[in-house]
Amino acid sequence: MKILITGGAGFIGSHVVRLMVNTYPEYEIYNLDALTYAGNLENLKDIEDQPNYHFVKGDINDAAAIDALFAAHGFEKVIHLAAESHVDRSIKDPLAFVKTNVMGTLNLLNACRESWKDDFNGKLFYHISTDEVYGTLGEDGLFTEETSYDPNSPYSASKASSDHFVRAYGETYGLPYIISNCSNNYGPNQFPEKLIPLFINNCIEEKPLPVYGDGNYTRDWLFVIDHARAIDTILHNGSLKETYNIGGFNEWKNLDLVKLLCKQMDEKLGRRTGSCETLITYVKDRPGHDKRYAIDASKINSELGWEPSVTFEEGLSKTIDWYLANTVWLNHVTSGDYKKYYEQQYS
Ligand code: NAD
Ligand code: TYD
Repeated sequence: MKILITGGAGFIGSHVVRLMVNTYPEYEIYNLDALTYAGNLENLKDIEDQPNYHFVKGDINDAAAIDALFAAHGFEKVIHLAAESHVDRSIKDPLAFVKTNVMGTLNLLNACRESWKDDFNGKLFYHISTDEVYGTLGEDGLFTEETSYDPNSPYSASKASSDHFVRAYGETYGLPYIISNCSNNYGPNQFPEKLIPLFINNCIEEKPLPVYGDGNYTRDWLFVIDHARAIDTILHNGSLKETYNIGGFNEWKNLDLVKLLCKQMDEKLGRRTGSCETLITYVKDRPGHDKRYAIDASKINSELGWEPSVTFEEGLSKTIDWYLANTVWLNHVTSGDYKKYYEQQYS
């Protein structure tokens, strides 16, 4: 089986590629990635020489190149992760998100439609989406697969739009698809623009920890390897035209999470208890900041038997250990353009 994974050099994509390459030596895994600021081949060093792994540098916005790639390889399945993924960047440059997340997805859908037109049997377009398409929750309730879409940021609006197009291609052209909507991921290899790796890096460097607003925003956190396991499960056992919500039943208010992170960082860095917490700094809130995300993951649990494998405390500890052991990786990704981004976002 030939599988195309888009965005495989990014955070979640690299864990999905690794899992697929190592678990299924009989599959040919093609990783298509444009290597934007978020894509990094260092994430895949341990598997790059495996005979069933192939890297293709390419942009999903380049329709002709995507068509040519499909014509050359005739992929049977696509796991589509390539995207612009950071909410703060989407607030500064929404168009970049429409281009890649909406138009890029359409280019892939068109290529699948053309390549698979004679026989949809055994084919699958598996679209990786986010719980942010559902908008925000109040104090109570959970996002289910039936929750209406109500996106609030340019990022979530672009992801919602791509989800709608995937579904529309299923209804209109019969394209076989599955969508999964996952909660916030954390773990090794996450670019330090997102909350957890940014704060780990700032603790190491003893820089301020910029908490947006009052810090009373809630996210539902899932260890990235558990997300990759869920994607594997859905790819093999999910039903066509279905949506699966993925989450860890693991809600944290940002401030509580940051305090736990600081406690673990103090222990691991051998600092006095409370040292990292003194770095917490309240900064201007994010515009349109969603109050609370929380996923009801009972469908994937009851229908497909998936559940998270690590607790949050364990996952966070593993994540910090990874960043402390991979300072070369961290130094590479925080040099150059990252400095400019950081100044613009936090100065
Ligand atoms: P990421 O930003 O770490 O990685 C994105 C990858 O896509 C990078 O390797 C980048 O080079 C590549 N890419 C970007 N634009 C491209 C283009 N035009 N053509 C080809 N490749 C391109 O993102 P991530 O956090 O790993 O997220 C992966 C997917 O999972 C996204 O679709 C995102 O919406 C979704 N998701 C993320 C989270 C999360 O918490 N990070 C949660 C749920 C869903
Ligand atoms: P983030 O990791 O950007 O994920 P998302 O916005 O997709 O949920 O942010 C997680 C939470 O942390 C969110 O409520 C915003 C908050 N946050 C901060 O308080 N400070 C920061 O510097 C960042 C990046 C995020």
